[in-house]
Amino acid sequence: DGFLPSGRSIVLVGLMGAGKTTIGRHLAGRLGLPFVDADVEIERAAGCSIADVFRLYGEAAFRDGERRVIRRLLEGPPMVLATGGGAFMDTATRTMVREHAISLWLRCPLPVLLRRVSGRTHRPLLNTASPRDVLERLMTIRHPVYAEADIIVDCGDNNVEHTTTRVME
Ligand code: S3P
Repeated sequence: DGFLPSGRSIVLVGLMGAGKTTIGRHLAGRLGLPFVDADVEIERAAGCSIADVFRLYGEAAFRDGERRVIRRLLEGPPMVLATGGGAFMDTATRTMVREHAISLWLRCPLPVLLRRVSGRTHRPLLNTASPRDVLERLMTIRHPVYAEADIIVDCGDNNVEHTTTRVME
């Protein structure tokens, strides 16, 4: 524990509900690195919630802000960075992450994702009649792109310590 050979940041990618924030926080603790959640940084920069950014300015503006925030964070000292599920889908963001960081995809089956996101209201893309349909569609579109991550870890239903250990290994 506590040794990151390359001095690069670790960037967690994957769908909403995959556990990027939870695992990222634990991983950071084990590596002795700071943990940062890109969504929180975007909200701080925007001065409002992500739902409000989507509502007031639209998704394209959100992606612009997301790209800028991630660039700024990757220019700083190494950290564990949890990104929103769409960040790695943006070509410029993905190129930057692949060049300057270690990317880690937390791959998670649909039923687990669904259970974790249900009842939450802060995700504008899931604010729909059928979050299942949305997540299924996003899986089809995004999984081939997430697969470009440097490291892939299946997380499923395992507990946080177990998954964090797998990531460390
Ligand atoms: C999004 C995921 C969210 C957030 C925004 C858009 C996406 O982050 O960035 O609602 O496009 O998948 P989480 O993956 O942390 O929920």
